[in-house]
Amino acid sequence: MLPTGHRTLVTGGAGFLGSHLCEALIRRGDAVLCVDNFHTGTRSNIAPLLGHPRFEMLHHDVTLPLDVEVDRIFNLACPASPVHYQHDPVQTTRTCVQGAMNMLALAERRHARILQASTSEVYGDPEVHPQPESYWGRVNPIGMRSCYNEGKRCAETLFFDYRRQYDLDIKVVRIFNTYGPRMYVDDGRVVSNFIVQALRGEEVTLYGDGSQTRSFCYVDDMIEALLATMEMPAEFTGPVNVGNPAELSMLDLAQLVLRLSGSPSRIVHRPLPPDDPKLRQPDIGLARQALGWQPNVPLDAGLEKTIAYFRALLNT
Ligand SMILES: NC(=O)c1ccc[n+]([C@@H]2O[C@H](COP(=O)([O-])OP(=O)(O)OC[C@H]3O[C@@H](n4cnc5c(N)ncnc54)[C@H](O)[C@@H]3O)[C@@H](O)[C@H]2O)c1
Repeated sequence: MLPTGHRTLVTGGAGFLGSHLCEALIRRGDAVLCVDNFHTGTRSNIAPLLGHPRFEMLHHDVTLPLDVEVDRIFNLACPASPVHYQHDPVQTTRTCVQGAMNMLALAERRHARILQASTSEVYGDPEVHPQPESYWGRVNPIGMRSCYNEGKRCAETLFFDYRRQYDLDIKVVRIFNTYGPRMYVDDGRVVSNFIVQALRGEEVTLYGDGSQTRSFCYVDDMIEALLATMEMPAEFTGPVNVGNPAELSMLDLAQLVLRLSGSPSRIVHRPLPPDDPKLRQPDIGLARQALGWQPNVPLDAGLEKTIAYFRALLNT
């Protein structure tokens, strides 16, 4: 592949989404600088890239200033699962807010285009369903999830203030639940939880009665959306929702995972955690119309690949 001429920084590049993004950028010919403090990311995620001549890894915490020569920045650094982001909530807010400030300052200095990996969590427990970008959300500012939700909301504010104040070329993508190979075994996210429990033959734990819904986007679709957003003209800032609108109940998901993995596990019910949203589904009208993007990988196919990944990892 011929070089694109882009020197692209991916913060959080050793994480689940970041490592897939680094691979896609290398495939399209970018020179990639991956920055990560390995808080949740792992060296094994980026192992396939380590010897590549256009790939570099820098062990660095984004809460500290950074000066490197880049013209594109994907800011993904931040633990994404509740187990990880609640482990050290002060550090989570610091990563969201101080990390965003440092990367925005770098973008301004280098005249780089910068994309923020925001989240559907900015909508909190929504009264509007599905959630369009124009909805401002219903977020608890003092709860267990606030370090992440409010941290990400503040990061969006910073991005738009850098746009208004310094005319920075920004893109904000609100990522909805994404799944696929390289998710973590014990991070409490529903897809990995169900698969790991099913493969180990353990009880599959369902919170509440299982009627709460989610929609899941396969990682390859998500990476395509991030790349497409980054290539939009400067007038396009987002925020843009990206995710898969196909919605299903957690009970249906548990049953599907059991069927696809051929597991004999049984489903047990546990109390709902606080601030757990009851409904979550992206309105992706803007992504369809502006980016010409929509998810293509059906849930069964994506789950099969994810189950195969965990089967190899757990050696089951
Ligand atoms: N996966 C999803 O479903 C989802 C949904 C919404 C938003 N997002 C966002 O996408 C981004 C990537 O999520 P992911 O699922 O890949 O999570 P992840 O935890 O796998 O990746 C996050 C990466 O950031 C690194 N990191 C954390 N704090 C850092 C710091 N201070 N300095 C440098 N590196 C740091 C971690 O080590 C890890 O490699 C996150 O910003 C997350 O908020 C993900």
